[in-house]
Amino acid sequence: MHPPTPSEGSPRPADVLVVGGGIIGLVTAWRAAQRGLAVTVVDPEPGGGAAQVAAGMLAAVTELHHGEQALLGLNLASARRYPDFAAELTEASGRGLGYRTCGTLAVALDSDDRAHLRELHALQSRSGLESEWLSGRECRRLEPMLAPGVRGGLRVDGDHQIDPRRLTAALLTACERAGVLFRRAWAERLDVAGDRARGVVLADGAALHAGQTVLAAGSLSGRLAGVPEAVLPPVRPVKGQVIRLTVPKPYAPFLSRTVRAVVRGSHVYLVPREDGELVVGATSEELGWDTTVTAGGVYELLRDAHELVPGITELPLTETRAGLRPGSPDNAPMLGPTRLPGLQLATGHYRNGVLLTPVTGDVMAQALTTGELPEEARPFTPRRFAGPAAPFPALPTQSFTEQPA
Ligand code: GLY
Repeated sequence: MHPPTPSEGSPRPADVLVVGGGIIGLVTAWRAAQRGLAVTVVDPEPGGGAAQVAAGMLAAVTELHHGEQALLGLNLASARRYPDFAAELTEASGRGLGYRTCGTLAVALDSDDRAHLRELHALQSRSGLESEWLSGRECRRLEPMLAPGVRGGLRVDGDHQIDPRRLTAALLTACERAGVLFRRAWAERLDVAGDRARGVVLADGAALHAGQTVLAAGSLSGRLAGVPEAVLPPVRPVKGQVIRLTVPKPYAPFLSRTVRAVVRGSHVYLVPREDGELVVGATSEELGWDTTVTAGGVYELLRDAHELVPGITELPLTETRAGLRPGSPDNAPMLGPTRLPGLQLATGHYRNGVLLTPVTGDVMAQALTTGELPEEARPFTPRRFAGPAAPFPALPTQSFTEQPA
């Protein structure tokens, strides 16, 4: 048993309980505490979750998809906040975030890829987004390590990156400094009395009460026992395998910006950090809560990344890991009050959790202090999903099982 820390187990009553201490839970807690609310985060290991695996691309433009125009608005709103958010969080935590305004190059290897990229370019232009079409030669001039076979690409200087592990560590420190309390335990079930949520019951039977409970547990958010079916968030886990390589110092810079492509229908991206880490991701697999790293997953990532940048096979492979994106039925997050008074959601961020961190913090702070969503977040009310949705049947009675990576 470790001794209690100053931020653990205090009897002080909370205004807000945040269930889940990943980046979304932490940014919600930090922003709410800054508004004067007494906040407790419930998580056996705060600072875990999908951000420990994510590459950290801030890719509102290069990850644009047909039919996601509303989400684009929220993504862009969050991307615009990133410079100030990063500066404020760095100041509040005394920690660097690895935030790089390095831009992104999306490239095509064959005529199918090129047609796909032309289509994306047209969609970006129709959406008023800045991106520039480059020939293969122009791509290689920007990034000399690219394969000679690259046929063309899109230069998007506005898509940046951050190191999600450093972001998480900074949010933890900022929360502690803002007076957020941490209860290192599993939330067993939602405590509902009459017609409102009034907190959670922990695995050891202890009850924590608060005026507002925020469910921010990523892909596990649909599994908290006691949540009435009509407000249970329809999130599902979407597995992403990611590998990390290291660029030894004499070879730096290996890549100067994020390079990505769709190869045989699969997305692959290479995200170079300033410290030499090169993150290569990601698979997209609907396999429930499985976080096994498979030979096939690693093989496909290396094969596709090697087609883009052949020199990667020379680099040391330093880590392989899988995380779970919290998928939602429309690929967009669920933010703010549910139809159950006292229960709010901050979940379902799917591919955009890191990008949406700044706007989520602001939106949730407003929702928790006023009960209303700001205009920009109204399309993302959880109330858009009418009635129950059960992505996976036969949930165990134990609300949360082992926290995935
Ligand atoms: N946004 C990158 C991914 O979800 O893999």
